[in-house]
Amino acid sequence: MAQRIEMQICLGSSCFSRGNREVVIMIRDYLKKNHLEDRIVFKGARCMGLCNHGPNLKINDKIIQGVALSAIEEILEKEFGNLK
Ligand code: FES
Repeated sequence: MAQRIEMQICLGSSCFSRGNREVVIMIRDYLKKNHLEDRIVFKGARCMGLCNHGPNLKINDKIIQGVALSAIEEILEKEFGNLK
């Protein structure tokens, strides 16, 4: 079976208030819509210590910084488009 991917979204107060509150909802919708919930473990995380570069998202060991609401779909497509 394919390895599961772990995705963590920073829900520390800085990232949360700068957009991740909405990004969580968009990611959940994306995973559901594309039937990826079994392949990708999606979790909230505490402050990653990189608030200045946030909002932050982590996919396995890769940290994606400056996640914008307008770019999240594109980021997810780039990372997971081949899993659909
Ligand atoms: S709150 Fe997200 S890195 Fe600090």
